[in-house]
Amino acid sequence: MKFIHVSDLHLVPKGDKLWGLDPFVRLETCLDDIIKLHSDAAFVVISGDLAEKGDVLAYRQLKARLADFPIETHVMLGNHDDRAHFLSVFTEGPKDDNGFVQSAITRDGTRFLFLDTLKGPPSSAGLYCAQRQAWLKTELAAAGKHPLYLFMHHPPFAIAHDLMDLIMLDDAEDFLALLHGHAVRHIFFGHAHRPISGQFRGMSFSAPPSLVHQLPLVSDSVATIYSDEPAMYAVVHAAADKIVVHMDAFLNRHPADMDPQAERGTWH
Ligand SMILES: [Fe+2]
Repeated sequence: MKFIHVSDLHLVPKGDKLWGLDPFVRLETCLDDIIKLHSDAAFVVISGDLAEKGDVLAYRQLKARLADFPIETHVMLGNHDDRAHFLSVFTEGPKDDNGFVQSAITRDGTRFLFLDTLKGPPSSAGLYCAQRQAWLKTELAAAGKHPLYLFMHHPPFAIAHDLMDLIMLDDAEDFLALLHGHAVRHIFFGHAHRPISGQFRGMSFSAPPSLVHQLPLVSDSVATIYSDEPAMYAVVHAAADKIVVHMDAFLNRHPADMDPQAERGTWH
């Protein structure tokens, strides 16, 4: 099974720029690339920070764009989002019984959970409160022995970044305690604006960069807090015995300086 992970759109109203970049054009280019190269993907997940300032117009424009997108798409919230504004546009949800933007799907015998870790202003950190925990407990129990993949905006552990580790999931250990005894294979997150992968307490994890501005790995390695580095989306191949996560820098994909016929007969 193949699916796509996109994160951190930071949309502003169409035509506006953010830190010198055009978020809506980046989204359009990303979606067009996915349609062109990965139309066989089972689904696309956009793991939060849909709108830079949680504004209704950006959500309306996102919804209108996704209405024309032919691949099933699951949208989630990040710290830049506004839950009420989002649900005023995405009136059909996804949402759980308490109004959090959480949902679950099953594909190929695997359970995918899309979590809402939005804490709310003025904090940029994440939170997974008792009501959200109750939903997760129910979902984990319902999954039984089926493998589980979690999607969440905020990582539930430190990622060795001086700034990001200040705004990870606040109640990470309470959250992680819920996962004990369940077959969570991989955690997908966003938020970091960096390509990251590794393993944490037996669970593999990955995060793609943002579609727009990035966060330098080493603070002050550039003169500004954010950096202009390649945007990427992740193409994930999941099977019973493995998961492969490719990060594709789709805006930086250009032909090499070589004859188009060179090196075509040596792949054996
Ligand atoms: Fe973000």
